[in-house]
Amino acid sequence: MFRLTVHGDDKIARIEPELYGHFTEHIGGVFYDGIWVGEDSKIPNVRGLRLELVEKLKAIGAPVIRWPGGCFAETYDWRDGIGPRESRPTRINWWRNADGRYEPNSVGTHEFVDFCRQVGAEPYFAANITSLTPLAIRDWMDYCNSPAGATTLAKEREKNGAKEPFGVKYWGVGNETWGGGGNMTGEMYAHEYRKYAVVMENTDRHAQLICSGADHHDWHWANDVLRVLEPSYKIMHGLSLHFYCGSAGDPLAFSEEEWYKQLRQALDVERAIERNWGFVVGYGMEKRARLVIDEWGCWHPGGSGPSSHMKEYGIEPAPNNPDGVENLFEQQSTMRDAAVAAATLNLFNNHAEKIKMATVAQLVNNLHCLFLAGGEHFITTPTYHVFDMMKAHMGGDALRVSGDFGEIAREQADQRRNYSIPNLSVSASKKDGALTVTLANLSVTEDAEVDLNFSEFKPAGTAEYAVLTADDPHAHNTYEEPEKVRLVRESKPFDGHVRVPAFSAVTVTVRGE
Ligand code: AHR
Repeated sequence: MFRLTVHGDDKIARIEPELYGHFTEHIGGVFYDGIWVGEDSKIPNVRGLRLELVEKLKAIGAPVIRWPGGCFAETYDWRDGIGPRESRPTRINWWRNADGRYEPNSVGTHEFVDFCRQVGAEPYFAANITSLTPLAIRDWMDYCNSPAGATTLAKEREKNGAKEPFGVKYWGVGNETWGGGGNMTGEMYAHEYRKYAVVMENTDRHAQLICSGADHHDWHWANDVLRVLEPSYKIMHGLSLHFYCGSAGDPLAFSEEEWYKQLRQALDVERAIERNWGFVVGYGMEKRARLVIDEWGCWHPGGSGPSSHMKEYGIEPAPNNPDGVENLFEQQSTMRDAAVAAATLNLFNNHAEKIKMATVAQLVNNLHCLFLAGGEHFITTPTYHVFDMMKAHMGGDALRVSGDFGEIAREQADQRRNYSIPNLSVSASKKDGALTVTLANLSVTEDAEVDLNFSEFKPAGTAEYAVLTADDPHAHNTYEEPEKVRLVRESKPFDGHVRVPAFSAVTVTVRGE
């Protein structure tokens, strides 16, 4: 029995709803035809956007969506994506060498903002500072955010169908500027950042500017950027961090050892959060800037997703993929990916004071995705259900939890270094008088019996349970079996005892007296 206490009066910080955000890129099958099916499609859509996907995102209260990349952003010119769709140019997509696809620009600024509005999410744009000038970014901000009729670009926006401003608040100043985004040293990027940021802030003083940060554990790079930006520097509202926890074995046929290896890699995001936050605090920037983890998730080898069988499923490939090549980076999501998602979101909740926003990579037909779609087929993954079960934390006050989380000690297969992970990953929050606790059992073999106690909180009556479990850790949804893994909700009297089956997660919401 694991005995845990949730401290009702020990608030960590508010959990910004934006910690439960999403990332979309023009890559593989994310937009064509994951999100965009076109207005004339027989697939149910609203103004070209896949209806089922929009509805599912609304259901989990998706707060923010990042766009248009990723690396795609490095060569994206926003002007290619405005005006009549039939006259937009086709360009070489950043990823073309990998999957042979060109970019038709059917989805541009208007379509993406429409997508966000249909969902009820804030758009978060990644500005291309690799191959566009500060003036071109100023123009994009002007086009998006200037009042109706105020500027020539606001009039152009109106001519293209949007009189009122889009009100895009979040702007990334580059993407992975240590790699595809210019291959810069930390010092070089910091100088570029100052140049772009001063123009961007003067264009729109409400803009929230996100500084492109380090990859995983590249502490020196992050340190170099912030050192050059110096403590008195004011034009920065977020420091980005990308954290892919790689892969451990086959995405569908992993071993027990690989289950734990994957979880260990995922839990390491905590070290990345603490180190990067250390730099923000160390340089005295914590009053203005918090971390933005705008790409995170598992990165398994491709080939496990349904697009590798388009023909068998009778899926007509998207127009920019006439040869029906499988979607780049598309991967299936099993109960292991769900465990990674639940443990990661628990860590985000537990470090809520350090994190402004996080966007999982990527939404559909890609890495660690919430959806798989092709033609008329559309399914949710176990990862979607994690976002569904944990949405009650959004906007709540994160609370400290103490007690016995257990320990799973593992011997490395190669015997060089042993490691351990906690048996239980847990976070708690309080909102509108109710307390929500998410417990993920990281053991792949043993069920966990939890004795859940509260201090400074008196539970009353029934509790709502959301249980994500399956008969096998490899379980996943397919077009043939779309509900193999699904979320089960139930109300029952709360007696303090919670059973979390092996490789499963439970969210409990209890009302207070
Ligand atoms: O998500 C796929 C790619 O991973 C993104 O384009 C890039 O930013 C990262 O390296």
